[in-house]
Amino acid sequence: MQEPRRGHEKETAEAAGATDTDNAADFGTFAELDKLVEAGIPAADVAKLRSAGIHTVQGISMQCHKDLVAIKGLSEAKVDKICETARKIAPSGFISAKESMARRLKVTRITTGCAAFDTLLGGGIESMSITEAFGEFRTGKTQIAHTLCVTAQLPRSMGGGNGKVAFIDTESTFRPERIRPIAERFGLDPEATLENIIVARAFTHEHQCQLLAAVAAKLAEDQFSLIVIDSITALFRVDFSGRGELAERQQKLGKMLSNLIKMAEEYNVAVYITNQVVSDPGGGSMFVADPKKPVGGHIMAHASTTRLSLRKGRGEQRIAKIYDSPNLPEVECVFAITEGGICEAKE
Ligand SMILES: Nc1ncnc2c1ncn2[C@@H]1O[C@H](COP(=O)(O)OP(=O)(O)OP(=O)(O)O)[C@@H](O)[C@H]1O
Ligand SMILES: [Mg+2]
Repeated sequence: MQEPRRGHEKETAEAAGATDTDNAADFGTFAELDKLVEAGIPAADVAKLRSAGIHTVQGISMQCHKDLVAIKGLSEAKVDKICETARKIAPSGFISAKESMARRLKVTRITTGCAAFDTLLGGGIESMSITEAFGEFRTGKTQIAHTLCVTAQLPRSMGGGNGKVAFIDTESTFRPERIRPIAERFGLDPEATLENIIVARAFTHEHQCQLLAAVAAKLAEDQFSLIVIDSITALFRVDFSGRGELAERQQKLGKMLSNLIKMAEEYNVAVYITNQVVSDPGGGSMFVADPKKPVGGHIMAHASTTRLSLRKGRGEQRIAKIYDSPNLPEVECVFAITEGGICEAKE
């Protein structure tokens, strides 16, 4: 049977100066790799799985057989034995739609700080899925990320995710000093809030990939509620140039996105990624002077559960529109960027 995950929920919230009243809410459940050792798999082999970025029994079923055999020191026979044991510990077959509904109830929603924006999103940024925000520069993609870094730590009763945050910064735009006023706005202790955010600057797409694997290890250790990658595509655009490298770029980007969605489901965390836009001379209607489309093509479109298109309004106002979602209508809302983060737009 699966083990409920360790509850760091209370500690995290309290460390940030909040008290929680709704701890009964359940986080994602996963079985720790030690279960394999208990079931007779040599500890050395389990260590090899860990070094390859696999930290839970469920994580094994999420890998292709060929990728497992490619792990140094694991033979075909060993992989077969590991997979068989993993299937016994954490069966991953059909479940009833009723059970599926019960799983959906574990989904948490993290507030954006703006009620209208939350309504647009059906309650906030969802766990177990990827939310992508794209738009031109200064449309608020990074400011939303900073706000979520704080609200992700709020107790659930306040629309938070009650966990820590991992932030992968590819454009050097993470600003710890922005966290303080946002934390104060939500009544959290700024020092503890900063403490609960781990940040890494990525310099190449390969580095970005390594950092994501490091995040997986952190998720298995501690209670996280949000992963941010700002931006997901920037380094891919730099590292792969021209038509000739497009196929390779898309393949690598697809692999990373597939890892991300698995991590989101495995650990019940929300994933917020930002994306750039490029001109799309052929794609727009005659009414749009300069149509813009998000980078990453179909690979990106399929990976993101919820896609948000952002654009500038007057002054501090910004407009968010649902661009693609399995269960949300294509509507838009107005929000504002302030010192205290994302909030309601004043009329
Ligand atoms: N402390 C603050 N108070 C109010 N507005 C702010 C504050 N800090 C930044 N902004 C506003 O946020 C906007 C920048 O938003 P943001 O950095 O999120 O854009 P972005 O969409 O990430 O752009 P890029 O594509 O360049 O990364 C600017 O208009 C800026 O004036
Ligand atoms: Mg930005």
